Amino acid sequence: MTLDLFPDHDDGAGRREELAPGAVVLRGLALPQQAEILAAVDDITSRAPLRHLTTPGGFRMSVAMTNCGARGWVSDRRGYRYDALDPESGRPWPPIPEVFLELAANAASEAGFEGFAPDACLINHYEPGTRLSLHQDKDERDYSQPIVSVSLGIPAVFLFGGLKREDRCLRVPLGHGDVVVWGGPARLRFHGVMPLKAASHPGLGMRRVNLTFRKVG
Ligand code: SIN
Ligand code: FE2
Repeated sequence: MTLDLFPDHDDGAGRREELAPGAVVLRGLALPQQAEILAAVDDITSRAPLRHLTTPGGFRMSVAMTNCGARGWVSDRRGYRYDALDPESGRPWPPIPEVFLELAANAASEAGFEGFAPDACLINHYEPGTRLSLHQDKDERDYSQPIVSVSLGIPAVFLFGGLKREDRCLRVPLGHGDVVVWGGPARLRFHGVMPLKAASHPGLGMRRVNLTFRKVG
């Protein structure tokens, strides 16, 4: 289907597109801090390396993941959960860098959610062919707080569905620096990422990095 968007501003960085009540895309919002953000991602992945988690059903996820923050999202044969320790090292996840916290709070506030203070940041790493199947973010205790999702590197098509798995999905192209926020009535909407097409980004090469901020509570 075609995506019906409602831009408030002209094209370019800062453009705001409403996806649904409580859900917006903030085009290019992360661009001013991109160098600092990418350096922080490198630092985090050197301490808590990216890894392919196993789903409770025994499948290897095609997205490689790691975390920073007081809580990290993990999956294995026992289920999905948040854990204060990286199960690979037994150590706490690296803290969420200040530049991430500022961006996440700023994005949430632009979307109408004031005072967002995430305690978890999942870092997703995609390569061409990688996909993320439709799911809800519902392992958090606190649904009053939004999800803030930052895209870096090669483009992806984000699927943004409804509150039921079978609801139709918007196909939202996301590029380097774009930020999506969903909360309030949109907090439990299904979402996912289509298999990435081969592409190259000047800074990241054939990779897409996504930062997803949550307040686990
Ligand atoms: C997620 O749902 O955790 C990630 C979404 C994305 O990579 O854009
Ligand atoms: Fe998600």
